Amino acid sequence: MTTKKRVFSGIQPSGNIHLGNYLGAVKQWVEGQDEKENFICVVDLHSLTVPQDPVELRFQTRSLAAVLLASGIDPDKTTLFIQSHVTAHAEGCWLLNCVTPLGWLQRMTQFKDKSAKQESVGMGLLDYPVLQAADIMLYDAHEVPVGEDQKQHVELCRDIGQRFNHIYEEEFFIIPEPKIPQDGARLMGLDDPTVKMSKSLAYTRGHAVRLLDEPKEILRSFKKAVTDSGREIRFSDDPEKAGVNNLLGIYKAVTGKANDEVEADFANARGYGDLKVGVAEVVIEFLAPMQARYKALMDDPAELDRILAIGAEQAAAVSMPKLRQMKEIMGLVLPVSSD
Ligand code: AMP
Ligand code: TRP
Repeated sequence: MTTKKRVFSGIQPSGNIHLGNYLGAVKQWVEGQDEKENFICVVDLHSLTVPQDPVELRFQTRSLAAVLLASGIDPDKTTLFIQSHVTAHAEGCWLLNCVTPLGWLQRMTQFKDKSAKQESVGMGLLDYPVLQAADIMLYDAHEVPVGEDQKQHVELCRDIGQRFNHIYEEEFFIIPEPKIPQDGARLMGLDDPTVKMSKSLAYTRGHAVRLLDEPKEILRSFKKAVTDSGREIRFSDDPEKAGVNNLLGIYKAVTGKANDEVEADFANARGYGDLKVGVAEVVIEFLAPMQARYKALMDDPAELDRILAIGAEQAAAVSMPKLRQMKEIMGLVLPVSSD
């Protein structure tokens, strides 16, 4: 019997994976692999909640899986899989839909933000957090390592789980905890430090550091980063200094140094120009080995598919029996095989 804590997390294959995703989420997944039992899912069904180009989505799904492997997700330690390969997620979502009050979903910040940006809002966008709750609870996960922006969805998952347990069977679902990192939980856009660095805005040059960007592109994005009219290079929560604070936060998260060490590294800087180049250099150096591994993985599609097929099998072995139990306690007739 394993006594390891079980971890579940997911990442959408739409848009460009960026340094915020890495520092807010992926890094914790890699670091926790030895002591935790990890399930990491490329959530392609979640991406369908806003319009996608089919060819692009298919490419991005495999590409993201390769980035995760290249970033240190080890398939011998972590179950890495594509959400749509395991049908329990969509089915579990339906069952949870039937115990989730509509008002809970209408209150979600992400739904309000995203629906304001869409001309026509699909049902899937409203239902997004219920699918996320199914993802997590079908695996009896204890922990959900995510960036700050996902805290509300994990809290909703807890509420849905508690409601289900109350209606059907106490302690049926494990009620998961969100795990938010101390550093890098919320990277801001380089072009606008008042908005979160985001995958959808990452198509705009200079907004994000995309994990697959060439060194000269990374340098260019940092050089153009918005700062302020002052000269002081120190951590601060002054909204005026949000740009500098974001740059220092990136440097800190990438190097693992303490605040005073980070400030000391820039004590002799001649201005923000030096800060920007200094941060770009550590980021470029940090990403280089990952980028080389990514290229090798993308050159061997059969191996990538093999890893994902094994992941899907392992994931189904855990979530399909849980789904069956859900159906049973909800009063559905379980199918009996005909042979
Ligand atoms: P998403 O890009 O929405 O698929 O998010 C994947 C993971 O990255 C989630 O755990 C998010 O919380 C995290 N994340 C997304 N954007 C940021 C950001 N700007 N800073 C830190 N973490 C982020
Ligand atoms: N909604 C998450 C995001 O945008 C992705 C996600 C889907 C997820 N299912 C999950 C995260 C389950 C953690 C656990 O980042």
